[in-house]
Amino acid sequence: MTIGIDKIGFFTSDYYLDMVDLAAARGEDPNKYLIGIGQEQQAVIPPTQDVVTMAANAAVKILSDDDKQAIDMVIFGTETGVDNSKSAAIYVQSLLGISNSARSFEIKQACYGGTAGVQMAFDHISVHPESKVLVLAADIARYGIGTAGEVTQGGGAIAMLMSQDPQILALDNQSAFHSENIMDFWRPFYRRDAIVDGHYSTDIYIDFFNQTFNDYCAKYQRTLTDFSAMAFHLPFTKMGLKALRTVIDTDEHSQQLLKEFDYSKKYNSLVGNLYTGSLYLSLLSLLANSTMLHAGDRIGLFSYGSGAQGEFYSGTVVKAMQRQRLGHQVDQLLANRTKLSVPEYEAMYANGLPNVGGDVTFDSADDHNRFILVGRKDDQLIYQDQLA
Ligand code: CAA
Repeated sequence: MTIGIDKIGFFTSDYYLDMVDLAAARGEDPNKYLIGIGQEQQAVIPPTQDVVTMAANAAVKILSDDDKQAIDMVIFGTETGVDNSKSAAIYVQSLLGISNSARSFEIKQACYGGTAGVQMAFDHISVHPESKVLVLAADIARYGIGTAGEVTQGGGAIAMLMSQDPQILALDNQSAFHSENIMDFWRPFYRRDAIVDGHYSTDIYIDFFNQTFNDYCAKYQRTLTDFSAMAFHLPFTKMGLKALRTVIDTDEHSQQLLKEFDYSKKYNSLVGNLYTGSLYLSLLSLLANSTMLHAGDRIGLFSYGSGAQGEFYSGTVVKAMQRQRLGHQVDQLLANRTKLSVPEYEAMYANGLPNVGGDVTFDSADDHNRFILVGRKDDQLIYQDQLA
């Protein structure tokens, strides 16, 4: 029996900011953002979208009615939770009409939550082969106007249906992980924006990649040539390139890995960081855009969550994987976005649910996505299915 990712859905905001415009507004050379950081555009999230609505909008695209009945676990990885107690998973389960017989809960470890969900889903299906697990990975990346991290903001959601005999990626059940108490990036309760020691965080990311990749190779007697491509957590696309460069050389296989990396960063460079969903957007980008990957090819996946947890694991491309179909949904979504000016982005950034209590109703006239956040009443979040 193989177990892995059967379906992947993606959702992001209808709005984006161009990094050339941001560079001009911040007095930076655009090439610092485009080449030095590797970002072209970033998603700007309106107040009517949060991690619940984005995850529901991502998942609704991939789930059939049969899937909704068969799912017996909903795992939501996020570091942008909407409540200190109630999980975002319960809201999504209810919005989508997923069976109430499912277990639903949220996992947090910075950008690693989605990977924890994938691994837990794998173990669950190993014991209960008929089950299907919905793994959601959604976040809104915020550092603050005018900060060094501003160019690495973004947001969006990935929804993955995991099952036996998957149609996209079969996981190898081979992984290596490492965790350490490190203050590279964190978000205290009173803040919407992250605190980050930027250069330190990039060094730690590379250390964790090297450690987990080497551990993986030693554990399973593999070398770089066993991988047809690598997908990385991409807080900004140059980060993955920096990590990849530490293990490649100038030979032909290394050139192939660099080419595949270009495919894997395409969508991330247009969306920005979606924290726990970033690795899986990169995987989607690779599978949808690479013309060189074939059934049976092994992909290495590096997951990193500040604070810090790293994991390197692997899977193989399944024969049934339909490249064009995967790409179509993302290309359409990105092509239909509206570009914001820098003042428009700054105004949208300042909007959203205030950290102090009180009733709020958002203007949702411009949000035509199926699931939206209408506001807050009596300290309860009000979500709406616009098709209901
Ligand atoms: N043309 C081309 N390249 C240029 C350039 C120009 N005109 N000007 C500068 N550059 C290059 C620099 O040489 C540098 O490249 P290298 O890193 O390859 O040397 C790159 O642009 C960035 O320049 P700086 O280092 O000067 O940039 P900065 O100090 O303004 O900040 C940053 C960069 C630290 C990544 C900052 O954006 C940040 O703090 N981001 C958020 C933190 C982050 O994403 N960390 C990643 C690891 S943590 C993680 O993965 C978890 C997570 O999701 C947050």
